[in-house]
Amino acid sequence: MLTPTLTQYLVRELSAHPDMSDIIQIMSDLSVIGKHISRDVHHASLLGIRGAVGAVNVQGEDVQKLDVVANELCKTYLTETGHFAAMASEEEEHVIDTGSMGEKARYVIAFDPLDGSSNIDVNITIGTIFSILRRIKDIERTDERHFLQKGSQQVCAGYFLYGAGTVLVFSFGNGVVEFTLDQTLGEFLLTHERMMMPEDGMIYSVNESNTKFFLEKDRKFVEYLKNRAGAQARYVGSLVADFHRTLKKGGIFLYPATDKKGTGDYCGRERLNYEVKPMAFLAQQAGGLATDGNFPISEIAPESLHQRIPVVLGSKKIVEEYLAFKP
Ligand code: F6P
Repeated sequence: MLTPTLTQYLVRELSAHPDMSDIIQIMSDLSVIGKHISRDVHHASLLGIRGAVGAVNVQGEDVQKLDVVANELCKTYLTETGHFAAMASEEEEHVIDTGSMGEKARYVIAFDPLDGSSNIDVNITIGTIFSILRRIKDIERTDERHFLQKGSQQVCAGYFLYGAGTVLVFSFGNGVVEFTLDQTLGEFLLTHERMMMPEDGMIYSVNESNTKFFLEKDRKFVEYLKNRAGAQARYVGSLVADFHRTLKKGGIFLYPATDKKGTGDYCGRERLNYEVKPMAFLAQQAGGLATDGNFPISEIAPESLHQRIPVVLGSKKIVEEYLAFKP
């Protein structure tokens, strides 16, 4: 039996659930986007699309040419599919109107077109993250409230990882599955079904230069992690890559609140809608945990489109240790 393609897998898994039939089409459309961005990422220097644009985005970050290419592709292509009543992009200040194409659509989608922007120029793994929610009836399509639903309400979430190979990892609430792009066939092929995060792991992943800005509990917990026998540090700086490693090898990823200005105001860095909600959904589906330090991420309703939040996620046992940790 040949390895199933993405479409074959989706038809097999979802054809008995007529209410999920849109997801087959949506995932198939998303996979086209993943193939396009994968090609652009892998050929960026040859295509002349590496480097900064010279502008700053809504997040206060330098926009890279590939950010623009990926964002435009997602916006244009996803609008044309007609699946989405509205869209939200990490690169755009406001909800994106899908116009007449999205009038009858049942879903909305939030996406980070290219996660890990600071790694684009140096050919290090980056990715595209997506989170799909049901459209809320009886409110304007461009109303932010569509995107202020809790993580537990996501219908489907996942990411494309553009590394040495391109993989697609997603869940529609029935476990986590991984597909790998076969560049010669141009197809995503099933490479891992029912992915489970190891229950524990010795890898800790944190931007250690920030520990001086952490709350005491977080600083001491990182010290604790470092001093465990067999401890290993790994940090790529692209959430999608750090998450993928954590999913496969176990361990813990931390981006706790920091107070970089010394004002006593501790804030998170990762975006709840575009990064943390989808990753937490996948972590939970794979048997892991994700918290902001106080609550499970899946139970936090965003207060705004671009809200940032502290996040600690990974293997169940070590995240539980974090939650119980008393410095
Ligand atoms: O939020 C964007 C992002 O690039 C994430 O993918 C990553 O986890 C984080 O920023 C890295 O931040 P820093 O450069 O502060 O370590």
